Amino acid sequence: MLQANPQAGLKELFSAEQIRREVGRVAEEIDGMYGEEPLVVLCVLKGAYAFFSDLVRHLKNRNVELDFLRLSSYGNATDSSGAVTLVKDIDVDIKGRHVLVVEDVVDTGHSMSFLLRHLAQLGARSVRIAAVIDKRERREVDVRVDFSCFNLDHGFIVGYGMDYSEHYRTLPGINELLFSDRERPGRF
Ligand code: PRP
Repeated sequence: MLQANPQAGLKELFSAEQIRREVGRVAEEIDGMYGEEPLVVLCVLKGAYAFFSDLVRHLKNRNVELDFLRLSSYGNATDSSGAVTLVKDIDVDIKGRHVLVVEDVVDTGHSMSFLLRHLAQLGARSVRIAAVIDKRERREVDVRVDFSCFNLDHGFIVGYGMDYSEHYRTLPGINELLFSDRERPGRF
């Protein structure tokens, strides 16, 4: 596994205040979509924990049930290879229910594609996706993010829940991790 480099530079892309505004906007969109309809909101651990926590507290809908799941994709710290597995499944029964999946970043789309198939098999009535960052230009499979705070087309992003080898998740803003030329992964 790649190690985090303590010398690596960080460039802030979105401040905590910008994030707060966007989360509020996204929460209004979600409330506009569901109103008071019962809704299951799923947090995709670990990266979505910060967004999930902020988002659900902005929602006006009080008919919300929360649950958590964890995916694993086989790759290194900066690259998901496309082979996705479920490490922790949900406990709540979603059959016939509206589901909102909360993610940190949707990149190639392999993780969400896998999860959407899984949730369909469990009988969800509808599934929509909310993500902090939508990297739609980098999609390798057709996945649409319904609610996003920010769109990006490149860069390795850390902070606000997102990590590099488990570092930087607790940063309040969203930052681009600047690699030295020697360390730079090919696809960034
Ligand atoms: C990240 C992110 C998504 C996935 C997106 O998870 O949370 O689940 O990668 O990439 P994709 O669209 O190319 O599939 P990661 O494996 O970094 O786990 P983490 O959330 O625990 O940090």
